[in-house]
This record gives sequence, structure tokens and C-alpha cells, in this order.
Amino acid sequence: MLFDILTIFPGFFDSALQEGVLGRAIINGIVKVRAIDLRDFTADRHHTVDDRPYGGGEGMVMKPEPIYRAIETLKGEPPPPVTVLLSPRGRVLDQTFAAELAGLERLVLICGRYEGIDERIHDHFVDIEISIGDYVLSGGEPAALVVVDAVSRLMPGVLGCEASASSDSFSDGLLKYPQYTRPADFMGHRVPDVLMSGDHARIARWRRERSLAMTFKRRPDFLSVVRLDEKDAEFLNKMGWRPE
Ligand code: ADE
Repeated sequence: MLFDILTIFPGFFDSALQEGVLGRAIINGIVKVRAIDLRDFTADRHHTVDDRPYGGGEGMVMKPEPIYRAIETLKGEPPPPVTVLLSPRGRVLDQTFAAELAGLERLVLICGRYEGIDERIHDHFVDIEISIGDYVLSGGEPAALVVVDAVSRLMPGVLGCEASASSDSFSDGLLKYPQYTRPADFMGHRVPDVLMSGDHARIARWRRERSLAMTFKRRPDFLSVVRLDEKDAEFLNKMGWRPE
């Protein structure tokens, strides 16, 4: 999967793309990420990427030409990209959306700055707008990184163990069960006995119930879309949950 990130701060991505799961995926060639400087697509000697808003008002607006030129240049190379604008106006990223994006071959991620970007880019040159949540960042760069991370880890071979993505929070629509490691007793707080019992069926049931209980307590909205079997429903009923 290829990610081209259009940004005025290409250095923002340097360390994030060298570390951990993402760094390894890039070294292994499963994911390729290019941070591309929008100033390389300006035509004036000051490399201007922004200007004052028509109609007046505070702040600056990103000019359309450098973004347009960058998109057109990138479209000249295969494979054909889907263009994405990171913006608080976009569809909010969740695991389902990340999985949809993971099915694409190439994304061009456009990072806005200042008070926004010229609306004609939104209207005519962007395929999808993505928000990473209902808050405003000072630029699209952190959001682009979130998209690259959330999508990359769904690509086959990126996680060391293929099972890891499928046991993530959300992969089955539930929050993840609690995990423990040594020591068995940490300052008087003990690891639940069941996890040291060696009884795999009991452990699996305990984990499922912890996931169900955590989801019911913290994100009950998820339960209306999760596939629950009879045992799950019975467990949740005992906790006070009722199907809608
Ligand atoms: N740019 C500014 N805020 C943003 C958000 N919440 N998501 C994506 N891009 C953004």
C-alpha cells in the first residue's frame, strides 16, 4: 500500500515512520510512505502556500494551486490514487472505515493548515474527507499519521502475528479484554487466577465476558451492532443489558 502525504511539514513524519510496527512494515516493503513538501509545487520564489481569505477575517487559507499541482503530478504515476483530505468535516475514522481504506492500493493524504484550504480543492479534487475525531487539530499531519497507522496494521504481514489484529479492541466490535504479564503479584494486586489455570476454554470464556462487560460499561452503543451468541446475551442480561 502506498501513502503519499502532502504537507508543508514533511519532517513531522520522520521519526514516526521509523519506529515500531510501522517502521518495520516500511522496511519490509509492505507499506510505502512518502511525505511530500507542498512548497515544491509553488511557482513563486517565496514558495507561498497560503493567502488571505476573500471576504476578510482572521487567519490564512491554503492556496489551491500548489495542492492541485501536487495531486496532478502524483496522479501521473501508477497506481491511480484515492485523494483524501484530513479535515474535521470528514467522515470520522473508525475500525470499519480503516478496514475499507486498507482495501485500496494508494492514498494521497492532503494535510491542511492555517484556517483551512480553498474550498475548490474540497469540491473538485478530493475523493474522501476524513476526520479523526470531534476536535480541531492545528493541522492535518497528526490525523494523516493516525490514518497511516490504523490502515497499515490491517495489511497482511504487518503485525508479527496475524492473530493480533483480530484480537484488537473493535475487531469483533467489542473492547478488548484486560491483559496481564509477570509478576503475578504486583504490589499486592494479583493477576486473576483463571489466567494461570492453563484451562484454555475457561480463559477464552473469561476473556469474552471481560470484553462484554467492559463494552457494556464504557461503550454500550457498540452492543447494538455486535454479533452476540446466546451465552453472551445471557451474560449481558445478568448485568442489566437489554437488547434494543
Ligand atoms: N484537521 C484538523 N482537525 C482535524 C481532525 N479532527 N481530523 C482530521 N483532520 C483535522
